[in-house]
Amino acid sequence: MSEVRVERAETLEGSLRVPGDKSTSHRALMISALADGESTIIGLSGGMDVAATAQIMEQLGATHHVEGHVTTVIGPSDGLRASADALDCGNSGTTMRLLTGIAAGVAGTHRLVGDASLSARPMDRVALPLGLMGASIEGQGDRCVAPLQIEGSRALHGISFEVPMASAQVKSAILFAALGASGPTTVGERVRTRPTTEMMLSRAGVGVVSMDDRDGRHVTLHPGRPLPRAWTVPGDPSQAAFFAVLGCIHPRASLDVVDIDNAPERIGYLDVLQRMGATLSVRSTADVLSFSVRSSELLATEVHAKEIPSVAEVPVLVVAAAAAAGVSAFRDMGELRLKESDRFTGSMSLAAKLGCHVWSEGDDIFVEGLGDAGRFADFALDATLDHRMVMASAVAGCAGGGASILSADTVASSYPNFFRDLASLE
Ligand code: S3P
Repeated sequence: MSEVRVERAETLEGSLRVPGDKSTSHRALMISALADGESTIIGLSGGMDVAATAQIMEQLGATHHVEGHVTTVIGPSDGLRASADALDCGNSGTTMRLLTGIAAGVAGTHRLVGDASLSARPMDRVALPLGLMGASIEGQGDRCVAPLQIEGSRALHGISFEVPMASAQVKSAILFAALGASGPTTVGERVRTRPTTEMMLSRAGVGVVSMDDRDGRHVTLHPGRPLPRAWTVPGDPSQAAFFAVLGCIHPRASLDVVDIDNAPERIGYLDVLQRMGATLSVRSTADVLSFSVRSSELLATEVHAKEIPSVAEVPVLVVAAAAAAGVSAFRDMGELRLKESDRFTGSMSLAAKLGCHVWSEGDDIFVEGLGDAGRFADFALDATLDHRMVMASAVAGCAGGGASILSADTVASSYPNFFRDLASLE
């Protein structure tokens, strides 16, 4: 268990390029492995989660090698095949859930395992729709947690399915299984989640039609094999969120973050911060977005889960709320409980450690901000196996009164150089 001490920084200044987007990186590896022939990926995330996906694609028969920023993947022409060894997804929910969809269509027996955090996360949300497609998936207990045993089959059939929770991982697992099914599949979502899978499959030549429907969308996929191609991975918006909040709440900060994925489903936190009064300017092209942020006096706001569909940026927005004047409300945050750790309880306990009055009602969290990060208490927090709790704590410590973060090495799941990048701004 590693402990990292973060001290309050005097000033923060500089420009950052955060790591390659984790969601795009997983999918680039998976789609390239499913294709027949050679694909290249520039800017793959260097985190352990994505490394787990790369290792598993090798076990299933794809090969990959890395030269500088370019990863080359060769998908086997006769398709992926089952591995005799367990497929270790580590800490990565995206790996396990998307892989469940892929393995369901690869003949043979697949055993999926993960670390203690992943082995507590519900897989019934993917097992149920994949079962409707004809897949056989067995997990442990009523939430179907890992280890999972999947009997892959080439006889899956298309379905029409409405995903009951906002989850890009569930949508993606179904779309991956649908590639090899007989007949088209339609996935509906009531809240639009990141469109990474459908957009990338479409770019790889698969027939995908996506239609917005009020706050949600319907995605229809026609079975087909992805084509190999060259991928460029944009920066990860969820990692950029830590620096957006840090730049706002630190009293002497001026930060730029460049070239993150410009997906509306990923950058809701920028609207939230702007609403709170952040001095934040945004420049974007069709594909990427950059922003500049300066020390700001934040005011409390109300955040609904719909604005931040995968709720990944909520723990650090709770830190922003802790520095704001007034009571912020975070509504409908039940999904936070099902992440790498229980981030519902974890975010509340972080705000409490900073010195805030914080309470919950059902799935809503309320934080009475201190009005100034300078009033944050020095605190200690054990992030267990949750990279985002490490980074949210580091932001609070760096802007406030310092922090001692236990289990900080888990940051390597998504952002191995996080502490180096943070130090480069001081
Ligand atoms: C991800 C989706 C999100 C997010 C996760 C990555 C993805 O989860 O929390 O870190 O790449 O699809 P859900 O959308 O399933 O909640």
